Order: sequence, then C-alpha cells, then structure tokens
Amino acid sequence: MPERVLFTIDGAPAEGEAGGSLLAALWNAGRLAVRSSVKGEARGPLCGMGTCFECRVSVDGEPHRRACLETVRAGMAVSLRDSRASAPEGSAPGAAEPPPDDRAEVVVVGAGPAGIAAAVHAAEAGARTVIVDEQRRPGGQVWRGEPARAARAWLERLERSGARVIAGATVVDASRGELLVVQGDRPLRLRFDRLVLATGARELFLPFPGWTLSGVVGAGGAQALLKAGGRFEGRRAVVAGSGPLLLAVAALLERAGARVVGVAEQAPLARLVAFAASLWRAPVRAAEGLGYAARLAGVPYRPGAWVREATGDGTIERVVVTDGRREWAWGCDVLACGFGLVPSLELPRLLGCATTAEAVLVDARQGTSVPGVFAAGELVGIGGASQALATGAAAGLAAGGRPVPPRLAAWRDAEAAFAARLAHAFAPRAEVLSLARPDTLVCRCEDVPLDLLRTAGSAREAKLRTRAGMGACQGRVCGPALARLRGFGADSVRPPLVPVPIRDLLGDLTSPAGEAGGPGPRIA
Ligand SMILES: Cc1cc2nc3c(=O)[nH]c(=O)nc-3n(C[C@H](O)[C@H](O)[C@H](O)COP(=O)(O)OP(=O)(O)OC[C@H]3O[C@@H](n4cnc5c(N)ncnc54)[C@H](O)[C@@H]3O)c2cc1C
Ligand code: FES
Repeated sequence: MPERVLFTIDGAPAEGEAGGSLLAALWNAGRLAVRSSVKGEARGPLCGMGTCFECRVSVDGEPHRRACLETVRAGMAVSLRDSRASAPEGSAPGAAEPPPDDRAEVVVVGAGPAGIAAAVHAAEAGARTVIVDEQRRPGGQVWRGEPARAARAWLERLERSGARVIAGATVVDASRGELLVVQGDRPLRLRFDRLVLATGARELFLPFPGWTLSGVVGAGGAQALLKAGGRFEGRRAVVAGSGPLLLAVAALLERAGARVVGVAEQAPLARLVAFAASLWRAPVRAAEGLGYAARLAGVPYRPGAWVREATGDGTIERVVVTDGRREWAWGCDVLACGFGLVPSLELPRLLGCATTAEAVLVDARQGTSVPGVFAAGELVGIGGASQALATGAAAGLAAGGRPVPPRLAAWRDAEAAFAARLAHAFAPRAEVLSLARPDTLVCRCEDVPLDLLRTAGSAREAKLRTRAGMGACQGRVCGPALARLRGFGADSVRPPLVPVPIRDLLGDLTSPAGEAGGPGPRIA
C-alpha cells in the first residue's frame, strides 16, 4: 500500500500518494478542472504528458507548474486560483546565475523505449552517456506506471549500462554541441559530442464542439492519468478517435473499474479488417489486440463512427456520436478522445535537422542531416514500442561509434513497413476534419475560435492575427490540428521550447559560453 501524504489545495487539506503524480491527486480529489482559460472557461487536463499545458497550477507560490509533471510532496501548497493567466509571463524573480556545466560524449533526449535503447547501446559501446527526460522517471509513454517484464528488463539494463539519467528535466534550447536543460527551477548546460533525439510523439487532437469541457481528455491522456494513479472506478467513459491505442485505453479503463459505454473508431471497417489481416506478420501485436477484444466483450465497438459533439454544463455529460448516416448519444463522465499520434519535431527542427511534415529524415545509421545528431523512435515514424527499440538501438550504436548489424537493420525495416500500414489504416477521414463550428475553439491556450482563423493563410499569419499557437503550449495542440484542418505548414521553431522563468534564460545568457555566442540558435 503506497504511503499517503497530506498537502493543500487552495488551503483545503487533500491527500495524495507519496511520490505519485500531482495531477492524479487533483483528479482523485474531484478537481477535473484546475485552471481558467483567458476567457474564464474552466479547463482540465487533456494530454496527461506535459504537452497541452491545461493542467497548470501554482505549487508553493510558483505559478504555471504542469501538474502532470509534478510529484506530490507532503505539505506542498497547491493553488488553482493563481493559475488563471494564459501564457506564463516568465517573471519569476531570482538571481541570474550562470547555469552549471556538464558534459558527455553522447547525450540522449527522451527516455522512452527509443531513448533507453539508444543510451544502453551507446553506453555499452563505451561512450560516456547521459539521458534526459522531462517525465518524473524513465519509460516514456508506453512504459509509464507499472512496466511489463520486457520493459523492466530494459530499465534494469539502462541502470547497469552506466548511462546517467537526468529525470524531470526539460530541454528548452539547443545549439550544435550543447543543450540548455531546466530541471524544476534549476537550469543546466549540457555539452555533447553526439546527440540522439528520441522525443517521441504526442496525441493528435482534432477540435469538435465541446472538446474543451472538463472531463474530455485524450485517449492517451486517460491512459497517462490512470498509470499515474488517477482513479476511474464507477465513472462512465466513452473512448473515441482513432488508432490501436483506443482499444488499449478502453481495456485499461474497464480494468480500473470504469464502465466503458462505447468505443467509436473513425477508421472505416474495411480498412480495419485489412489492417487486422496484415497482423499475421506481427503475432505479438495480434495477440495483444485479441486480449483487449476479450476484455471488452459486451462493450459497443463502432467502427466508422466519431464524436460529433460533447455537451455538459462545464463538465462533460454526454456525447453525440455519428457514423455519417445516423446519430446516437452516449451519457458519460469522461470522454477519452485522440486521433492518433504526431511526432514531437520541435527539438530536431530547432537544431536544423531536415524533416517532412511527419518525421525526421534519417540515413541507414539513424543520422539526421546535421552531423553528429541522430534520431530514433516515433520521431522517424509512428510505429510503436518495437519500432522505437529497433531505431533506438541503431542510433545508440551509431552514436557510440559502432556499426549497425544487418539483423538490426532488417528488424528496423520491418517496423517501418508496419508503421506505413498503421498510418494508412487509421488516416483521419474528411468528416473528422470538419467537426469544428465557427465558434469552436481551436487554440485552447489563447481561446481562438475557428471563425477568427478563417482569413489566415499560414501558421505565421494565424499567430500574428489571432495569437493562435502563441500560448503556453506553443502550438503543440492547435498546430497539428491546423495543419490538417487548413493545410498550414509548421512555423519556425524558436527557443525556449517551453515557457521557462526568465531567470533561467538570464542565467544562460550571462554564462561565459553565452557571451562567446557559440554556434546555433541562442535564447534572445
Ligand atoms: C499518450 C500516449 C500513450 C501511448 N500509449 C501507448 C501504449 O499503450 N502502447 C503502445 O504500444 N504505444 C503507446 N504509445 C505510443 C508510444 O509513443 C510508443 O509506443 C513508444 O513509447 C514510442 O517510444 P519513443 O521512445 O519514440 O517515445 P516516447 O515513449 O514518447 O518517449 C519520448 C520521451 O521524450 C521526452 N521528451 C520529449 N521532449 C522532451 C524535451 N524537450 N526535454 C526532455 N524530454 C523530452 C518525453 O517526456 C518522453 O518521455 C503512446 C503514445 C502516447 C503519446
Ligand atoms: S495534462 Fe499536463 S500538460 Fe497536458
């Protein structure tokens, strides 16, 4: 039984699991909404993984902390009242101390399966290796919470490899040869000879009427909350959107005591059948799918169906689902909805790595267009944990100065073929790209409705005219949505990658290397 600790929410006593996630503790205390938007709407968590910034609260007087990345501590004072502003202003006082320096031959960013495999292989090849991740512990999206046996083996191998893990630390700036990392309120300059990027993916959220109601979370968001200790017993949940994650999440919710009212998968039945038939080439994945189906026996599963609208008085009460011919309503307390994954390309783009709209371009050694910088995992194709391990191992070997063996290369190629089949099967249909009405908010951070974006022809114009994409999440949620809804290409990426207190940036600028104005982008 995990130890319980006491803390306060706006002065009122609350209880959480020692070492557990603050977001889960707030959720379990019934706080589905934790902040107010710029126009005063109550908002709650969407992504559960640090992307959407909808879970910002004040912790011990420090505003704009993402509750999903915070650990509950005894006596911590959490305030939901102080976290009402839109973007963090970066005005925290403090001395402009230069950040301490650290150095490694190989630095890996991202401690999901790809980053872990890369760090293990680089360290085992004899390179002094550091791995950095903004989550509270290594594992990435799939190995959160209680890791399965295969995952535990990788985590133990990471420990034995001698690679140093820096957890709870976000990379906010990068240039050739160094990273600026912020851990809590401490900045750190991390220099490297070779860099492996393994920053993974996030969910694709497509706006629909009601998607900002409290209780509407991502499908992966619900999973992240559950794995962080969020309780769903007795809650009625609808799972919707697209991708194999929906079944995994629905099964997990059922196991956690939720009543799954229905699953709506937008992909048409014919594509799902073709995809399932192709799984004879991936028996482990086929078995996983069958396991979920067995757990969900009796739960309505609707292929070719999507949520048209969510309604409720501040908090979700029901969803209207359609298959294009007829509509029906499902009453629920939680809607877990995500339309697949998009890679987190900000850091590779900041470093100048060549990318397509959907991936970092790499060669046979996972090398990017920038010498000494490698990429792996969901960054090079959305393919799941096995693909992440294959590409991560190859990137780690290459960064450690070793060749990529033919068997590993063949595994990686098979995973790439699976990723292509996945993308085809679950591509969003036209109808889910036109769910937003003129008054539906597209940019949640700045409360920008679709109507205001009508005349913008690019992501840059949308920013300049409406502030869409300029809020705390810096376009991580609305950017991929607008790319699909309006065909906008990605805007240029500038540091810092996430809002950080000004003192951290000042510390960077006043450091000796900052004065020397080293190569690559600088914080300005
Ligand atoms: C919410 C969610 C849930 C998922 N659930 C499943 C599942 O149940 N089963 C499954 O097979 N697949 C799941 N996936 C897909 C999953 O992404 C892959 O299977 C696999 O985890 C990919 O591994 P990766 O190492 O490429 O990326 P990830 O596992 O996503 O790891 C990337 C890591 O990079 C870190 N990071 C990113 N940017 C920075 C930065 N600037 N500074 C520091 N750290 C950073 C992140 O914190 C993260 O831990 C999920 C994906 C998402 C987004
Ligand atoms: S829920 Fe914490 S950032 Fe999205």
